[in-house]
Amino acid sequence: MTEITHIDGVDSHPDWSRIPEHARHVLLCTGPRCTQRGALQLWKTLRRRLLEHQHIEVPGGVLLTRTHCQFPCNLGPVLTVYPERCWYGVRSKADAVRLVDVHLVGGDVVEALLIREHP
Ligand code: FES
Repeated sequence: MTEITHIDGVDSHPDWSRIPEHARHVLLCTGPRCTQRGALQLWKTLRRRLLEHQHIEVPGGVLLTRTHCQFPCNLGPVLTVYPERCWYGVRSKADAVRLVDVHLVGGDVVEALLIREHP
């Protein structure tokens, strides 16, 4: 496949033509309401903890992506994990560390942090 190095005058780099290595894709909402609840600080904690485990953008590891609103704003900050399709409400630094250690590194769903939808 030909690497894209220039697209209509937009800056480019060969690394930006590759999908990063990962087994799980983690989507942290940094929409307006989750940001007001501290999502940007959680982003730093998640990234730092994943780096401590050498578990970010490596085979078997995590690709961490910020998103806009994922919709259940009242239950945020919202973080989703695929392929498991887990929806989490992460409310503190301790929650973020727990999520990394137990689910993203350990492979076990953190039931206590799952978003429970009410009918
Ligand atoms: S702003 Fe995060 S779910 Fe809406």
